[in-house]
Amino acid sequence: MPTWIIVGAQWGDEGKGKIVDMLSASADMVVRYQGGANAGHTVVIKGEQTILHQIPSGILHPGVVCVLGNGVVIDPKALQEEIRMLEEKGIEVEGRLFISQNAHLIMPYHKMLDQLRDKSLGDMKIDTTGRGIGPAYVDKVARCGIRIVDLLERDLLKQKLLRNIEEKNAVLQRIYGEPELDAEAIVNEYMAFDKMIDRYIRDVSVLVNNAIDEGKTVLMEGAQGTHLDVDHGTYPYVTSSNPTAANACIGTGIGPTRIDGVLGVVKAYTTRVGAGPFPTEFDEDFGSRLRELGAEYGATTGRPRRCGWFDVVVANHAVRVNGLTAWAVTKLDVLDTIEELKICVGYKVGPDRIKKSMPSEQGILLQAEPVYESMSGWQEFTSHCRSWEELPRKAQAYLDRIAQLTGTPIALVGVGSGREEMVIVRDDRVGWIAEAAAASRKNNLGE
Ligand code: GDP
Ligand code: IMO
Ligand code: MG
Repeated sequence: MPTWIIVGAQWGDEGKGKIVDMLSASADMVVRYQGGANAGHTVVIKGEQTILHQIPSGILHPGVVCVLGNGVVIDPKALQEEIRMLEEKGIEVEGRLFISQNAHLIMPYHKMLDQLRDKSLGDMKIDTTGRGIGPAYVDKVARCGIRIVDLLERDLLKQKLLRNIEEKNAVLQRIYGEPELDAEAIVNEYMAFDKMIDRYIRDVSVLVNNAIDEGKTVLMEGAQGTHLDVDHGTYPYVTSSNPTAANACIGTGIGPTRIDGVLGVVKAYTTRVGAGPFPTEFDEDFGSRLRELGAEYGATTGRPRRCGWFDVVVANHAVRVNGLTAWAVTKLDVLDTIEELKICVGYKVGPDRIKKSMPSEQGILLQAEPVYESMSGWQEFTSHCRSWEELPRKAQAYLDRIAQLTGTPIALVGVGSGREEMVIVRDDRVGWIAEAAAASRKNNLGE
């Protein structure tokens, strides 16, 4: 049974939650490998929306084991709230959620520093989610982070925390003019988290490798997206982790030989929330039309998402850095009423110069002029479609063009936010995904 990575191909919010939820009906385990509560993954079942921030999107399927790998940064307070939210919906979490002992913890000072720093950048701000992600990864790499396992060694924990807080207090006071943090209160608060979190802690590398050895089906759920990757994204307007596929191995403790395929999730257009370059961004008028059609507001912060045309340069970068096997194209239905569609096939970066790959230079990317191909819209509703044949001919042509320009087959097409609103494409090249989606459809309908 296979192990697949599900990864965002644009700037996040591609609809990974819905795809992971759907495939989870055919999976045994779903693992998050990076990011933290900056993610907002939406699943809609029979009209009821659930937004997951840290817990994998497989949790809505009873019997699926959900895992947070060592690469995730855990906010224990937010995690407690998320567990409570799920339990209130009647979803059992204990016994199905496991967290790596090596995952780092988000501390109160991470959130404060994240927000203060971003604000202080003024026009140059990243517009982060303010969840403390950047500062937590900074401490991890600086080797002063607090791991979950550190909660077990009380004296050492206290020593490390006091040292960290002393340092952070100096920054908070001297750079940002903020009052000092109460070290004792933080120490006590985190010691109390130990009791709550203890039951979830496992050696995740052993857990996931054993599952693969036993022939279980494992999904690796990426958060954020390829162009928010700290190495491969639009730096510095990125998050502080590696959402790209290779990090699924590092972030869980499995080897690359254990991966069978990588599914790229991509919207039928493009969105971005937060600051940073976005070559195919719409003008204000058309942008707000699409924002309303696609309900493009952040699942974590509620911020309006910036919207633009489908960008093949962005998509092909994701194909290459993730080694994508196939696409899940989401939100096709949002384009149902659009008269004329455009696909960006290159960037004009000088009088006679067209670039087909992402420029790394901030200035060039900011000024890149998209080169478009036009296609006429289908102007028919698609949300009822479940198979390729049911899609309007012009919608097929649009999708075919995306597959052709990216050299990557399409396995799934989202035609609505609901769990069942999906076209499953029968294409031999997408192998397990089409089979699993078909089996999932049966399972989900049986609920
Ligand atoms: P994620 O972060 O990648 O999981 O995506 P988000 O949940 O942040 O944002 C995707 C939004 O689009 C959510 O509101 C989903 O319910 C919705 N969505 C997902 N797939 C589709 C689709 O095919 N059609 C429509 N109309 N909405 C979708
Ligand atoms: P999901 O998993 C969309 C963006 C923020 C900001 C930048 C850095 O739901 O796709 P951070 O708080 O991570 O330091 O912010 O990254 N960002 C996301 N955008 N979807 C996400 O997650 C995001 N997580 C972070 O808006 O521009
Ligand atoms: Mg999201």
